[in-house]
Amino acid sequence: MEVVIKAGDREVAVVVADAVEQLLADKPDAVLGLATGSSPLAVYDELARRHEAGRISFARARAFMLDEYVGLPADHPERYRNVIERELLSRVDFAPGAVQGPDGLATDLVVAAEDYERAIVEAGGVDLQLLGIGTNGHIAFNEPGSSLASRTRPLPLTEQTRRDNARFFDDDMDAVPRLCMTQGLGTIMAARHLVLVAFGTVKSQAVRELVEGPVSASWPATVMQHHPHATVLLDEAAAAQLERADYYREAWAAKPGWQRL
Ligand code: F6R
Repeated sequence: MEVVIKAGDREVAVVVADAVEQLLADKPDAVLGLATGSSPLAVYDELARRHEAGRISFARARAFMLDEYVGLPADHPERYRNVIERELLSRVDFAPGAVQGPDGLATDLVVAAEDYERAIVEAGGVDLQLLGIGTNGHIAFNEPGSSLASRTRPLPLTEQTRRDNARFFDDDMDAVPRLCMTQGLGTIMAARHLVLVAFGTVKSQAVRELVEGPVSASWPATVMQHHPHATVLLDEAAAAQLERADYYREAWAAKPGWQRL
């Protein structure tokens, strides 16, 4: 696992956007994995900027979203499909239908989850999966206790996640859905490159467990320690509890220019 510590989210966004730009240059029909929430927003701003500048095109790319709330009306602004439309899709040039998400409005969620798994496989799998991390160590919405081999499925959200996400619902806990559809940890682990971004002191404990703790379903993101190509990009505050922070900084500073993320 490579750990990159930068001053802030803008600096992290440049490094991640470089990796996406390089991927799309090599493979214009690449498959991206998209996260929602606040963590990837600086990355999406940077990608939108580069698209506007003519440096990057998503016209042949496809993408799969990590997760979705169950039960929010189709036009709810916090439905992840609408969030990703607002934060990224409306600003770049994905073809119509090129971006899919788990169907939180399906009448049969289990069948919808199986269909979603199949769609990812039929697309050839995800080349680069962008991830955030919850304060309780979840990735996508795989809450603590999730099987490390789990696949896309409906799952209840923990109280902590609903409390953390209440900020997107006018701080009204009752407005936060209790159920989600999420890619599983096994689904995420099948992506070829995992790129996790985390910012702020509030994430520092989850980041310490992710990078330096034992692999455990109690901190679901720790499964990434088993991935052959995982990159974790942090600001100083999120990195504050890492024991080997100096080593990660030295390794990044010494990284040869030819070596990619
Ligand atoms: C969202 C997702 C979640 C978030 C996590 C952190 O698609 O997969 O795992 O990345 O809850 O949320 P933020 O970035 O809002 O702190």
